[in-house]
Amino acid sequence: MHLKLESFVSFLALLVLFHVLVGLSHAAAAVAAGGGDQFMYEGFAGAWLDLDGMAVVEPDGKLMLTNVTSQMKGHAFHPAPLRFHAPANGTAAVRSFSTAFVFAIAADYVTVSGNGLAFFVAPSKNLSTASPSQFLGLFNSENNGNASNRIFAVELDTILNPEFRDINSNHVGVDVNGLVSVASKPAGYYADDDAGAFKNLTLFSGDAMQVWVDYDGGAMVINVTLAPVEVPKPSKPLISVAVDLSPVVNGTAYVGLSSSTGPFHTRHYVLGWSFAMDGPAPPLNYANLPKLPRVSAKRRSKVLDVLAPVATPLLALAVVAGVSFLVWRRIRYAELREDWEVEFGPHRFAYKDLFGDIAAAADARLCGDYDPNEAALVLKLGLLCSHPVAAERPSMRQVVQFLDGDVALPEPEPTYRSFTTLAMMQNADGFDSCAVSYPSTSTSIDGAPSVLSGGR
Ligand SMILES: *[C@@H]1O[C@H](CO)[C@@H](O)[C@H](O)[C@H]1NC(C)=O
Ligand SMILES: *[C@@H]1O[C@H](CO)[C@@H](O)[C@H](O)[C@H]1NC(C)=O
Ligand SMILES: *[C@@H]1O[C@H](CO)[C@@H](O)[C@H](O)[C@H]1NC(C)=O
Ligand SMILES: *[C@@H]1O[C@H](CO)[C@@H](O)[C@H](O)[C@H]1NC(C)=O
Ligand SMILES: *[C@@H]1O[C@H](CO)[C@@H](O)[C@H](O)[C@H]1NC(C)=O
Ligand SMILES: *[C@@H]1O[C@H](CO)[C@@H](O)[C@H](O)[C@H]1NC(C)=O
Ligand SMILES: *[C@@H]1O[C@H](CO)[C@@H](O)[C@H](O)[C@H]1NC(C)=O
Repeated sequence: MHLKLESFVSFLALLVLFHVLVGLSHAAAAVAAGGGDQFMYEGFAGAWLDLDGMAVVEPDGKLMLTNVTSQMKGHAFHPAPLRFHAPANGTAAVRSFSTAFVFAIAADYVTVSGNGLAFFVAPSKNLSTASPSQFLGLFNSENNGNASNRIFAVELDTILNPEFRDINSNHVGVDVNGLVSVASKPAGYYADDDAGAFKNLTLFSGDAMQVWVDYDGGAMVINVTLAPVEVPKPSKPLISVAVDLSPVVNGTAYVGLSSSTGPFHTRHYVLGWSFAMDGPAPPLNYANLPKLPRVSAKRRSKVLDVLAPVATPLLALAVVAGVSFLVWRRIRYAELREDWEVEFGPHRFAYKDLFGDIAAAADARLCGDYDPNEAALVLKLGLLCSHPVAAERPSMRQVVQFLDGDVALPEPEPTYRSFTTLAMMQNADGFDSCAVSYPSTSTSIDGAPSVLSGGR
């Protein structure tokens, strides 16, 4: 018995040692395969990477660039700088390079995600001044578009940002020094097994997809190709655009992957990544990559997904407001009921009416016979309760506090900081821009805390 236990313990020790050795040899293999100008990771356990921000390698080897926290960024860098110019070669031309990576974007909301993921080449590993959200952790509002950034990136963008002239909320773009892409296309691929027919892809579907970025230093052409992970590299790239990288990638530079979140709960995963100078990136074998958690087996209908979180509090509020209004009218106009009141019907308040003098939205037929403060309170509260971001909506307890006047209702602000919200409203079916009237404090670039945080 005693002997058995001892041998069992030593067996365990051997097992642990074996795992450590295997782990080390895997990590070593990844580095050795690198040989300086080349690397390949199928899973990132033991990978030689510099991570910052939210980026972490999960125990099973998935690289998670962002978790579900809002307004954050994460980077993964190949730690060593790469020489982008041919050695002892007087010409300014940038060497050819090629990269491939497998990613998955898992969003909590089925219809919106934020903000995206990018492969990039940058002169330093310090991106501390870059902003999250629509800046993808690569740029900020001051330096966006400035040639001194010397950043080249391929973005997988899941938000439509009008200020960057984005084409839609699901696109691939080639970026040089800023987020206004030099070329972009809706996400998809030309299927070789279907005579090159174009197939749409949804970047934030939660499904694993592969991206290839190939730069031909001689022809100065960037190709970007996207495909579902089980599909071999399509022969026709999604984007093929002439870009001279010589003023951008000067001398040595770092390659990395970046991701950022806006107001929406989104996890950006990378499952494998390879890179090579002067030749094709080593192919990734999907069978060797860490597996994704299965996203909820059955997806809910889009309409339900958008409407349910909005409709429930709205419905509750509408019932409360409706009942109170009827009671109030009964008491107030018990004696003087007029003909027009019979026709009293449903009303629509245009955003332009609400914006500015909120009381202008009140029914003219009330002839000013109401408390403007009360009317404004109810209208603003309605806007707040229909906020597109669930976390921004007040709880029932807060609604009561606002109505009682115990707590001051936050003032709606002009929409300067709400581009992301605006984009989200455009992306989500069943909404129009008038619902954007109440900007989300949580989308602010300066990270001002939400007035209502912790309300639910
Ligand atoms: C996300 O990452 C941040 C920074 O690493 C951490 O503070 C936070 O707790 C994480 N959130 C979740 C839900 O894991
Ligand atoms: C320098 O590099 C360019 C681009 O890679 C190549 O076309 C050219 O032949 C090289 N010149 C010499 C002298 O090696
Ligand atoms: C990164 O850059 C910022 C601003 O340029 C600087 O304040 C910070 O010290 C730098 N961090 C490191 C680790 O070099
Ligand atoms: C670009 O960045 C450089 C260095 O940060 C700065 O001196 C210059 O003024 C910027 N240019 C513009 C147009 O903002
Ligand atoms: C693919 O997406 C485009 C918009 O990007 C849309 O116009 C087209 O109808 C979609 N095609 C299919 C087959 O879903
Ligand atoms: C880029 O795509 C074009 C058009 O399909 C192709 O002719 C060229 O060889 C490709 N270049 C690279 C570096 O993949
Ligand atoms: C690269 O940078 C150096 C110094 O920063 C500059 O003199 C040179 O002109 C640059 N080369 C290109 C191709 O922009």
